[in-house]
Amino acid sequence: MITFNETTKTFHLSNKEISYIMKLDDNKHLLHLYFAKKIHNADNDDQLFFGHLDNQLFNGDRLLNSYRPKEYGSYGTGDFREPAFVIRQEDGNSISDFSYISHEIYQGKKSIAPLPSIYVEDEQEAQTLEITLHDSLTNTDLILYYTIYRDYPVIARHSAFIHKGDTPIYIQRVMSMQLDLADSDYDFIHFSGAWGREKRIVSNKLRWGNQSIFSTKGVSSAEHNPTFILKRPDTTEDFGQAYGFAFIYSGNFLCEADVSTYNQCRVNVGIHPVNFSWKLCSGEEFVSPEAIVMYSDKGLTQMSHNFHNLFNQRLCRGKYRGANRPILLNNWEATEMTFDEDKIMSIAQKAKEAGAELFVLDDGWFGTRNDETQGLGDWFANTTKLPSGISGLSQKVAELGIKFGLWFEPEMVNKNSQLYREHPDYLLQVKNRHSHSFRYQYVLDFSRDDVVNYIYQQMKEIISTSKMSYIKWDMNRYLTEVYSVGLAPDEQGKVFHKYILGVYSLYHRLTQEFPDILFESCSSGGARFDPGILYYAPQTWCSDNTDANDRVEIQYANSFFYPISSHGAHVSAVPNQQTTRVTDIHTRANIAYFGAFGYELDLNELSEDEFKIVQQQIAFYKENRAVFQYGTYYRLRCPFENNSGSFMTVSPDGQKAFAMYYQRLYKPNTEFVNLKLKGLEAETKYQVTLAGIDKIYYGDYLMNAGISFNSTRLARMGGDFTALLIEITKI
Ligand code: DGJ
Repeated sequence: MITFNETTKTFHLSNKEISYIMKLDDNKHLLHLYFAKKIHNADNDDQLFFGHLDNQLFNGDRLLNSYRPKEYGSYGTGDFREPAFVIRQEDGNSISDFSYISHEIYQGKKSIAPLPSIYVEDEQEAQTLEITLHDSLTNTDLILYYTIYRDYPVIARHSAFIHKGDTPIYIQRVMSMQLDLADSDYDFIHFSGAWGREKRIVSNKLRWGNQSIFSTKGVSSAEHNPTFILKRPDTTEDFGQAYGFAFIYSGNFLCEADVSTYNQCRVNVGIHPVNFSWKLCSGEEFVSPEAIVMYSDKGLTQMSHNFHNLFNQRLCRGKYRGANRPILLNNWEATEMTFDEDKIMSIAQKAKEAGAELFVLDDGWFGTRNDETQGLGDWFANTTKLPSGISGLSQKVAELGIKFGLWFEPEMVNKNSQLYREHPDYLLQVKNRHSHSFRYQYVLDFSRDDVVNYIYQQMKEIISTSKMSYIKWDMNRYLTEVYSVGLAPDEQGKVFHKYILGVYSLYHRLTQEFPDILFESCSSGGARFDPGILYYAPQTWCSDNTDANDRVEIQYANSFFYPISSHGAHVSAVPNQQTTRVTDIHTRANIAYFGAFGYELDLNELSEDEFKIVQQQIAFYKENRAVFQYGTYYRLRCPFENNSGSFMTVSPDGQKAFAMYYQRLYKPNTEFVNLKLKGLEAETKYQVTLAGIDKIYYGDYLMNAGISFNSTRLARMGGDFTALLIEITKI
């Protein structure tokens, strides 16, 4: 999979789908030549070269080299594009010049834990290339890591700096991946939004200049997601070239496309440089997080399938990797923080009667947590509300025959808490400067081991003394006043990154210690739904907005990168808490089925008829959850562009498929929509069941002629905000 041609000094990483080619020039600088569909090695690989100053390249002279395609471009020697890294030195200069020393090729892939990364289970699955470069003036090594998988069109990259010089250096900027593409004829698609409207699909044609998405909030954020696509303008779901980039990291990030006026496109993916500065002393190493890039020449659906498979199989870990996810009922929207044990038991009891498998007790169970102003940080039960504690409550829930899960917000503290009174120094804060609160809460300094350890001990105590099988790890504010008393003044640029390392290390310890617990990540909904968190928590709560209409969009956008098993999706009460919209209970479930399904309401408050419907929904989901959670998923109709939206999933064995068709607003006498299904066998007959009516069609009919809808027909089935579920069974 990886070769090095000694004569042409060319590295070629390839599998049956992709080729990634780089070359050392005469100055031993590492140039990027190609990354796309698999190609043969060229005898004279110079023809691959596409730089503006190509003729001047290989003559041994060090000419100004502004537009040469680099693997990892440095600052200050004539490349004026956005650099991969910047190293400030003791004398104040930020110029460096790394050239090739050696390389190593080996089977498999090394872990960078606690930093998350994709992994191998068998060394034959992948090969890794480590290229060591050296800057003699600073006496620093730079190692570039590249892994290619046998079965995925993906390249995984990260870098490491090892400092050997006597005086410290300061890494001011470090990208995990730089990719110089030969042209810029791409649409830049990213997933941006805000709380309650996470992940709108944004698509813009690349233009000259720099375009980026980023976070400086300490978490990946609801505003932008560290995943994006560059696709050719004519690429569709089923056709054409696309690169999908994913940063496997949950903190500050920068994803940028820097397009030169020669139409070259430089992509950078890495930690955001704002307030980043990593002091590296002699003998120390800094390892960057991992970034991956997937190539598809068969459209966006193929790219998504590759991400779903890779993330499900080689990013998620532990007992729940590839396993059925439990149907849960969460009490948050039902009670918020106002409850007692009787209330909780009545909700859990009803959840059990409905057939749910897991009851989750959300915020409000600990310390003096009766409202938002208090209790965060005190991870012991509020025995006024819950006299038998979490240990007793979890036992009682277990006796009902349903599992128990619990909400935590480990990174936060209220000033009105025992933790704060005892450890006021545990906050991220700047002395004598006002600390901003949000929801009356402050952020604990997770860059400090002692703080992480304190929270770990509290969580461990409560988990190990109760019957717990699930944890919802929430995180409800962004970071401000980012300063740590645990670090010297010239190391404050480390705090953001060390904070997220602290989060990962707590996850690491808890998942090691309690391997049977399923973790679901949450950050005011989807503000930390990123590839990094999937390594520890295989599912994430998509949004606090549980309105069916809005969930169609959020789940649709999530599907570009994130496997369906990772989308926490619940049926909640109507009128919806966030939008006040009223949607039918079937509609709410038909959308939530396409995820890790559950409920977010008090089932005692449903009518008898509605409760029976819920029982049927749960029974139905149990029978079919593997199709929804692990089937091959297709986007059929974009809800952002249309008055309707649709997606479908086909079981791994091809026997069963489900399609969801959603109509937003009823409009009289509309044109027909032909919904063309995907992923079926052309020559096979299928029974199609829609609204209780069965019909038989060949796969080719369903995929080419399609099922036609118009509003009049849908009006009879529900009108506005109606989601239909179409069941397709091989016969
Ligand atoms: C925000 C989450 O997204 C909600 O689901 C809920 O857990 C609340 N926090 C609790 O404070």
